[in-house]
Amino acid sequence: MNVYIETYGCQMNVNDSEVVLAILRKAGYTSCGEMGRADLILVNTCSVRDNAEQRVLGRLDVFRQEKKRRPGVIVGVLGCMAERLKEKLLENAAVDIVAGPDAYRDLPRLVEAVSVSGKQINTLLSHEETYADITPVRTDRTGVSAFISIMRGCNNVCAYCIVPYVRGAERSRDPESILREAASLVADGYREINLLGQNVDSYRWTGDGTSAPVDFAGLLARVAQVDPKVRVRFATSHPKDMGDAVLHVMAAHPNICRHIHLPVQSGSDVMLEKMNRKYTREHYLERIAAIRRILPDCAVTTDVIAGFCGETEEDHAATLSLFREVRYDSAFMFQYSERPGTKASRHYPDDVPEAVKTARLNEIIALQNELSLESNRRCVGRCFEVLVEGPSKRSDAELMGRTSQNKTCVFPAAGHKPGDYVTVRVLSCTSATLRCEVAE
Ligand code: SAH
Ligand code: SF4
Ligand code: F3S
Repeated sequence: MNVYIETYGCQMNVNDSEVVLAILRKAGYTSCGEMGRADLILVNTCSVRDNAEQRVLGRLDVFRQEKKRRPGVIVGVLGCMAERLKEKLLENAAVDIVAGPDAYRDLPRLVEAVSVSGKQINTLLSHEETYADITPVRTDRTGVSAFISIMRGCNNVCAYCIVPYVRGAERSRDPESILREAASLVADGYREINLLGQNVDSYRWTGDGTSAPVDFAGLLARVAQVDPKVRVRFATSHPKDMGDAVLHVMAAHPNICRHIHLPVQSGSDVMLEKMNRKYTREHYLERIAAIRRILPDCAVTTDVIAGFCGETEEDHAATLSLFREVRYDSAFMFQYSERPGTKASRHYPDDVPEAVKTARLNEIIALQNELSLESNRRCVGRCFEVLVEGPSKRSDAELMGRTSQNKTCVFPAAGHKPGDYVTVRVLSCTSATLRCEVAE
């Protein structure tokens, strides 16, 4: 049996698809890169914004055609949309299986059951499941950079956000299993480890209570010590929980990348309060000041939402001014999309007109493009150590790699290969890329 899987959404979903492939491989499936050869087609989905769901619904139409062409093909919807829509998804003619994020161990049984008794569903959420004992089947092409999920779920209730409803309660994974996975990645030649969680700063392992608890700063230090030549990245940090301890651990370990993704969501205290983010603009800026003080060469990136419920021009202006003040190196920028069942959908009217949301988003994007360009211009003339990931998009004679600050560099291949560390000098830039020469 061949399984084909498509993945939408965040890095955690990418890692979950790798867990799913590991579970299915053990049950005798072979993963294949082409839908046309698959006996089992899976789509791992995202519910964070309506457009993410619309894309998947479009794909289900394609899968329905495929089932017409090749009867017997089984289609499963996994992940956050499966959890949110549950039985409703089974009404779709394309769908045979609906499995939520904590139900992946059950997939082999669900697939078997389809041929015997038709459509199957498992959307039970768990308080314990971390898939700690499952070694993900890596799906990255280069063998340079890999994900490790250190926790699952989320205990925050940001008013706009569907994640806690579809991912369940926060739970941290046993640090020993994380360290074992890191060591095995290193043994397999990986050069970069990405630690993943919705809010890594609230990572906490208490075990059976007999040893001292492990927090994120402690975990990060231990992962960094697995191999000083292997880079460590992490996401996402939460401004209310990111303390100085993590920053000091970063400062003490040069292989922990100089990059913090610190979603702000809005620059206005009124919006932050309504979003239930549990910090103020002042607190956020104090955290930024701490980063600059303890890690002067650290890049900072963010997420922001334009047009949340009741957002005024003044609130929007506060977001723009915060962006100018922080001077982000880059940002993920979204317009607010109401998600059914969230606190915002129940209590606050989605009252910023679509056109206004779009205009505000575009204004933020234009500003960030300037800030990204300025940030990159500050790199011109300087040298950076880059971890090579593969050929550049444009040419095999060029390589692409990232700096510790997560900036994309392109430079002549000159005999280097993926996984190498190369020191490059930046010659010129756009807002997205640094063009470099090899400095050695
Ligand atoms: N755990 C992370 C982010 C998870 S979702 C954090 O706490 O920041 C990724 C991003 O999607 C969020 O940071 C937010 O900017 C955006 N997002 C979440 N819900 C959204 C919604 N309903 N509409 C628009 N953007 C949303
Ligand atoms: Fe969503 Fe907030 Fe949890 Fe991030 S911290 S996943 S934005 S509820
Ligand atoms: Fe990730 Fe989307 Fe789910 S952002 S956690 S895949 S809702």
